[in-house]
Amino acid sequence: MCGIFAYTGKKGKDAGGILLNGLLSLEYRGYDSAGIYMPESGSVKTPGAVAELRKKIPKDFKGKSGIAHLRWATHGEPTAKNAHPHSDCGGEIWVVHNGIIENFKELKEKLSKAGHTFKSDSDTEVLAHLVEEKLSAQGGSASGRNFEKAALAALNEVRGTYGIALQYKKEPDRIIAARMGSPIVLGLGDGEHFIASDPSPILPHTRKVVFLEDGEVAVITPESHRIFRLDATKVKRKATEIDWSAEEAQKGGYEHFMLKEIMEGPEVVRNTLRGRLIEEKGLAKLGGLEGVTKQLEKVDRIIMVACGTASYAGMVGEYMLEEHARIPVEVEIGSEFRYRKAVINERTAVVGISQSGETLDTLEALREGKRHGALTLGIVNTVGSTIARETDAGVYNHAGPEISVASTKAFLSQMTALALLTIFLGRQRGMTQKEGKEIARELKALPEKIEKILEQRGAIEKLAKKYSKNRDFLYIGRKYNYAVAFEGAIKLKEISYIHAEGCGAGEMKHGPIAMIDEHFPTMAIATKDSVYEKMISNIHEIKARKGPVIAIATEGDKEIARLVDDVMYVPQTIEMLSPILNVVPLQLFAYYFAKEKGLNVDRPRNLAKSVTVE
Ligand code: F6R
Repeated sequence: MCGIFAYTGKKGKDAGGILLNGLLSLEYRGYDSAGIYMPESGSVKTPGAVAELRKKIPKDFKGKSGIAHLRWATHGEPTAKNAHPHSDCGGEIWVVHNGIIENFKELKEKLSKAGHTFKSDSDTEVLAHLVEEKLSAQGGSASGRNFEKAALAALNEVRGTYGIALQYKKEPDRIIAARMGSPIVLGLGDGEHFIASDPSPILPHTRKVVFLEDGEVAVITPESHRIFRLDATKVKRKATEIDWSAEEAQKGGYEHFMLKEIMEGPEVVRNTLRGRLIEEKGLAKLGGLEGVTKQLEKVDRIIMVACGTASYAGMVGEYMLEEHARIPVEVEIGSEFRYRKAVINERTAVVGISQSGETLDTLEALREGKRHGALTLGIVNTVGSTIARETDAGVYNHAGPEISVASTKAFLSQMTALALLTIFLGRQRGMTQKEGKEIARELKALPEKIEKILEQRGAIEKLAKKYSKNRDFLYIGRKYNYAVAFEGAIKLKEISYIHAEGCGAGEMKHGPIAMIDEHFPTMAIATKDSVYEKMISNIHEIKARKGPVIAIATEGDKEIARLVDDVMYVPQTIEMLSPILNVVPLQLFAYYFAKEKGLNVDRPRNLAKSVTVE
């Protein structure tokens, strides 16, 4: 998720200032590098966010139009070279992009053969060169060539997701936008027009906006805007008057970032999977591991190191990898691993899982692994973060920036990445093609299933209200959902400040069951899998002690509804992927519970998003 902002307007107005201020309100979408292009002044790009960019902009950097970008890296490190805007060979066509161009490798190859020289590792740069190619293919003199036609022809060759703004040095007033999967909104001002990823940077200037739909292209000039489809047919769309505040616009209309990020779950899983599954062969293609494929074949033990939510993703990964890839796996929290004398050798892989890529305990645990000769890998969301840089290889989550302190979408993407790793390592170790294909098929079906769960959020909100006076909760699960019990509990305690305890359901009778009475509800993760019957027995044990039970159950399971007090249903999937669905109602429950209490959901007390101290 990156942020884009473009402006074309009246003489005398400082486009540079407008663009920089606009970028500030998009910082929640990405902040690892930033850049700006204005036809009259050129381009400035830098690692870091808007403050860094502002420092680098010379005093005489002026103009009346331009495009700007904040990046959350997907392809290529977050360096000035990879920051947007990207340009063609001649430095005349400039592009800012949010999304992933899936066929960029083949396009880059074709364009390189045709003589184009690339300056970055970014997938986006191919688009600038492709437009350049289409322009020169029109023949005739440069002044007679049609930028709009060339852009349209190029966009028709690109596959993937994009929200795009394109500008041509020779036509500085005109900016072209396009949308396929990543949001684009036009701002309609008086003698000035805007393009942005969301309305927040537009709102200080105008409240009249037009949202583009997938497959649509728009052309703005200071005086006009036009919209058409990729097949050049015209689109007529009325402007919408927005009464949101800029902050509401950043949250996409949701009250909190946490809810917005939970709602992004389907998209996040799609993004983690994008381009990485070869379903017909039952294979996973993980570009970040290509350099260590041979070393991975020799690995006979994996140690996962992580903290908090990321460590629960690791626990799910442990079960996936042991059952399907048949590799011994241990999971350990970073703060423990780094101080004990674990037995590690060159055949051990230490895998660090971290959303921020900066968690000190995880980082130090990885360093400890490295000191003992282990291969170190990262499953990291933040491209270019310390863990991403220091590990030998890794898999990026592609979940986009997570703003809310409580981790939700990153957890989904971590488990999805671990499922991909399971196919990758499993197929190296005798996993059959049939098994690989089945996991791949089920992975692809997850986003729609998550959508079905999200549709029930109204009912989950009511449930959270019903239990909002309770002060203690027990969360129980078994096998793959053992870790989900811990994750459900941490979500509730960190944003509601009440006591919630995760527990293996079988372990309950060794202590925790003593707490159960009619005031102590249990959240039981009891979807239809190989331990379903065991979970039902545990639920009976709680009911016998008058404990209220809320179950996470598989759609169509009417039996369980007769046994428990309340049920949240989820669609069926294969057992190893069930945590990716089962955690979603628990995230929503925790969110609505804390909201009901009127707490600061996105910024819970005493917690920081990135823990860079011991
Ligand atoms: C819980 C939460 C924390 C983090 C933990 C690790 O919602 O956010 O438990 O999961 O601090 O952070 P990362 O993944 O950045 O290493």
